[in-house]
Amino acid sequence: MRKGVATFAAVGLVASLGLTACSQPQEESPGGEDKPKVGVILPDQASSVRWETADRRYLEEAFQAAGIDYEIKNAQGSTENFLTLTDQLITSGIDILMIVNLDSGSGAAALQKARNAGVKTIDYDRLTLNGGADYYVSFDNVEVGRLQGQGLIKCLEDKGVENARIVYLNGSPTDNNATLFREGYHEVLSEKYDEGWVFVDERSVPDWDGTQAVTLFEQMFTAHGGGIDGVLSANDTLGNAAITVLKGQGLNGQIPVTGQDASVAGLQNILAGDQCMTVYKAIKKEADAAAALAIALARGETPSGLTTVKDTESGREVPAKLEKPVAIFKENIKDVIDDGFVTVDELCTPDFAALCEEAGIS
Ligand code: BGC
Repeated sequence: MRKGVATFAAVGLVASLGLTACSQPQEESPGGEDKPKVGVILPDQASSVRWETADRRYLEEAFQAAGIDYEIKNAQGSTENFLTLTDQLITSGIDILMIVNLDSGSGAAALQKARNAGVKTIDYDRLTLNGGADYYVSFDNVEVGRLQGQGLIKCLEDKGVENARIVYLNGSPTDNNATLFREGYHEVLSEKYDEGWVFVDERSVPDWDGTQAVTLFEQMFTAHGGGIDGVLSANDTLGNAAITVLKGQGLNGQIPVTGQDASVAGLQNILAGDQCMTVYKAIKKEADAAAALAIALARGETPSGLTTVKDTESGREVPAKLEKPVAIFKENIKDVIDDGFVTVDELCTPDFAALCEEAGIS
């Protein structure tokens, strides 16, 4: 529906998220059955499994619980698709557009189309620079980077490595989150450089593409004659690429590699000892917060209890809800399972059954 968002049972969800809202009277439909509609565009399936396995599922659950109509699309890595999907969703009568941009340029164009049609907007997970979204929902992404940096330091110190030589596989140069993760891990690791650790090299991986990450990591490995002690990799997809190359050299398990997303493959790499840590982001919280903000927008409410995040291009302070990331090592993989994010069956496939048992996961 558009215009005249009316009563629907969503107050509980807003309250349960610790968001409060000042409401303005809204048009009410007879019987209170007029539901707002949210259109969501996810970015791809390749850069991380999270978008289809976690975000879609939790967003569906959150919208259903909130009594909101929804349509969730995936742009499959194409900015052209992204804009076509935007048009289709607007034509279908959405009240709110929620996007995970593929880059800020196309993201801003999608948000502008929505605004032109009177549709409210939410940046989900990635901030669209100069995009002007009404709200932003994500994690504290600088903190994600700090956890990765601290995790790599812990893994190297546990191994007794001195004056460690570090290479970096950064996320996509067009993803503002990749910039924030990098800010966080460089902040933490730069302190170690003062103590004799060595920044060896870094590469940004276009589109977070795992295949390109293999090539870029190989190039760094060769260029520095294998003189590497630790790999700061920005997510599990890139971490797995580094591990693939290290396996080819018989060095997997000897050189710690970081990750992000607590994907099944990442957690299995941790169980195998090939990856030292990942960052778990409770996507359920992110999806619930996004649904609560969608409701607030649809009702013309102004939620309080939000923080702001600066759009570094426009200078605008964007009202935001940021969730807290958690570092996961072999010792606390169980936390991800206890949270219902990954099941024992998904993780402990026959090849990993013995390792699961060793780690006390059953
Ligand atoms: C997300 C990560 C994800 C990466 C690749 C980032 O913007 O925050 O969770 O791994 O994109 O999709």
